[in-house]
Amino acid sequence: MRLDQFVATSSELSRKEAKRAIARGEVTVDGKTCTTANTQLAEDAQVILAGRPLALPGERYLMLNKPAGVVSATTDSDHPTALDLVPAELTRNLHIAGRLDADTTGLLLLTTDGQWSHRVTSPRTDCPKIYRVTLSEPLSAMAVQELEQGVRLHNESKLTRPAQVAILGERTIDLTISEGRYHQVKRMLAAVGNHVEALHRLQIGPVRLDPALEPGGYRELTRAEKSSLG
Ligand code: URA
Repeated sequence: MRLDQFVATSSELSRKEAKRAIARGEVTVDGKTCTTANTQLAEDAQVILAGRPLALPGERYLMLNKPAGVVSATTDSDHPTALDLVPAELTRNLHIAGRLDADTTGLLLLTTDGQWSHRVTSPRTDCPKIYRVTLSEPLSAMAVQELEQGVRLHNESKLTRPAQVAILGERTIDLTISEGRYHQVKRMLAAVGNHVEALHRLQIGPVRLDPALEPGGYRELTRAEKSSLG
């Protein structure tokens, strides 16, 4: 893990404050002052902030920018998994809070905290998720209205909860939904006669995918992000 990430995760400092503390020479690694925020720490590194030894808290909460082709699973014999993108020392007891299809990209949350992931994914908590959707056809005004009122998915009797649609371009929308049924976004768009060409999750509740994360990149959630979701 990077030094600034470690300091931010194991203290009350934000990532920015951690970087500043490191630059000011307030952090030692294995007894030596280290002013380089992106130093990669060995698994057993001793990090001290202004005289205070730091330790990672027991539970881990990560966000990952899932690339296409990676499956939302802990193990898979044929495909790379989301957990393969995280350093081995962080993967113990880690599981995914809210899966994405293999071809969907974007925000994936991983945690060791089963109660927290239950709160994030439970239909009862009504946690909105925002998806950037690229469509095969422009979305008609009628289709927008249907999505916003609730649509009937193939082979299901219960209407979807009302969604919110923001039109961004001819074939690009942001769709906000607060359920997580199987292939929900693709099936909602199919139900209004359209087709999803690309799907990217931008946000879960108040937590937005960090634009600094390249596809395949991950970081720890800040304390504020973690507690905003439960
Ligand atoms: N809806 C889908 O259809 N696929 C996803 O991956 C997420 C939401």
